[in-house]
Amino acid sequence: MPRRDESSTAWGGRVPLALRVNGVDRVLRLDSRVTLLDALRDGLDLTGAKKGCDRGECGACTVLVDGRRVNSCLTLAVMHDGAEITTVEGLARDGVPHPVQEAFVEHDALQCGFCTPGQVVSAVALLAEGRATSDAEIREWMSGNLCRCAAYPNIVAAIRQVASAEGPPPTTGGAAA
Ligand code: FES
Ligand code: FES
Repeated sequence: MPRRDESSTAWGGRVPLALRVNGVDRVLRLDSRVTLLDALRDGLDLTGAKKGCDRGECGACTVLVDGRRVNSCLTLAVMHDGAEITTVEGLARDGVPHPVQEAFVEHDALQCGFCTPGQVVSAVALLAEGRATSDAEIREWMSGNLCRCAAYPNIVAAIRQVASAEGPPPTTGGAAA
């Protein structure tokens, strides 16, 4: 029986994928089963987004897809051809940390730091969505990001500080799953 060439099968074949990641156009050829998280970490060496649970429970893998929060472990990379992806590596501007990153440092909103990239990316989106009008609202809309170190009070304090400094957002948008 001839050996099966996996690379030529529908499942093993690679498909081209174009993404704009942190403002840079990137082209990949991927197995169609690769998740967005693995494409970012293994294909593009962007290891900020973390693989905590790999099944949509912890939020450590949160990235923005066209501005919306997404658990990147739960979605296939090929589903996002042409999309704009923002990871934690893309939040700083000209070497200056994003205000949310600065607030996390100021409020000591982390311990081990494993969940922190996902928390920060999620918080940036939360603020853009206009969902940080109270501590209860922050807790509710950050509830998809778990922290085993239980840094929650400090995380809320950091987000509250940025929300207070920014004032009400100009528009409100929906949150992604
Ligand atoms: S690694 Fe994606 S939700 Fe946990
Ligand atoms: S800081 Fe350790 S899991 Fe959140």
